[in-house]
Amino acid sequence: MTSRRLPGDFLLGCATAAHQVEGGTDNDWSRWARDHPEKIADNSDAQTACDHYRRYRDDLAVLAALHQNAHRFSVEWSRVEPQPGCFDRGALQHYADVVRTCRGLGMEPVVTLHHFTFPPWLASRGGAAHPDAPRLFARYASACAGAFGSGVEWWITLNEPVVLAYMGHLAGRWPPGGRSVPRTLATLRGLARMHAAGYRALHDAAMRRGGVARVSVAHHERRLVPRRGHAADRVAAALPDFLFNRWFLRSCVTGRLLPPVGTGAPVPGLRASLDYLGLNYYCEDIVRFDAASSATLFAKPLSDTDAPRSTFGWPIDPGGLRRAIDALWREFRLPILISENGVADNDDDLRPQFIVDHLSAVIDAINDGADVRGYLYWTAWDNFEWAEGYTQRFGLFSVDPHTQQRTARASAALYAGICATKAVPPAARATARPG
Ligand code: FCB
Repeated sequence: MTSRRLPGDFLLGCATAAHQVEGGTDNDWSRWARDHPEKIADNSDAQTACDHYRRYRDDLAVLAALHQNAHRFSVEWSRVEPQPGCFDRGALQHYADVVRTCRGLGMEPVVTLHHFTFPPWLASRGGAAHPDAPRLFARYASACAGAFGSGVEWWITLNEPVVLAYMGHLAGRWPPGGRSVPRTLATLRGLARMHAAGYRALHDAAMRRGGVARVSVAHHERRLVPRRGHAADRVAAALPDFLFNRWFLRSCVTGRLLPPVGTGAPVPGLRASLDYLGLNYYCEDIVRFDAASSATLFAKPLSDTDAPRSTFGWPIDPGGLRRAIDALWREFRLPILISENGVADNDDDLRPQFIVDHLSAVIDAINDGADVRGYLYWTAWDNFEWAEGYTQRFGLFSVDPHTQQRTARASAALYAGICATKAVPPAARATARPG
């Protein structure tokens, strides 16, 4: 078997998020880790993380030297606007320099405005559910667009809004630790309104300078697949699958807060507010009906399937990426950017083949007509993985927490080869060289 090729202008790089790599953040997550260490698997926090806020120039140069031509990162709202309405010019200049540095190194910046963290002043007022959150988010988005100018075309307003609402307000595992259905629904509606307002602000800013903005969310697609031939499983899977995988996107396309989360009422600016689809894919779950699983609406993922699993316990199935792309392309006909895909794997046993297999799935989908523009591996450096602390390692590079030394895993070289040639080998072993 020979290598197969991605399109010549295909974007290939890594994705990161501010709180997970920067260090020194003061937001709802840093306060949560400080006040509830028991909620983090290794009782850690992100106070140092990868110290990337200071090291970004060297870090980005390394990724560019690995032939990556795109880089996704997030702006930390709490740095840019530490108090309501008070924008920190130094922080804005910092991120403007990250954008410039990416461009100077030949990497297309993909900028996320909100990746799971809120400034404390907004979190304490209810976060996304606060009636003013959309206006405040739009003001922050405008400040970023103004500071970055024509440097950024690819924007992501919100990372995984449904995951954020679920983990923070229903599962009680992330800040603010809630377990309330009404609160979860209010947060979902608020996030959709924030997206609409951010979308408009970014397009207004682009129009003012005669530039282009492509705006989306990073949507986490994790299909809930009922066991074959079990009618109760099929019924149980349908609603949570819709809520997790389609409610937000369809609301953005129709412009209405669809039932059962909303009443179907229109939201100004929400209609057609996706210029492309940011797709975060890790796995899909086979589920069965389980009367005790009320937090997931009675659909329980099976943990004993044959699929190989990452250290996180997530099943590995590149076919799921293919199915996700196909389903999204068929329904929405929007260009797709794979904004995250990766595997937790300390020793790099699984990662090289994981990358090859998932990129092969992308090539299959493209060959069948889907418009996929790029793939961003999650992630460059082992980092603070939310409630898992530093226990789940997704990086192409490991990071020594004491010295901050980054060490390339074999998959970094493998991925560099793919980025350089756009050719995906049939098997990882064929090209993996030591980093
Ligand atoms: C995604 C998140 C990202 C990271 C990966 C492993 O859901 O967007 O921040 O935690 O999972």
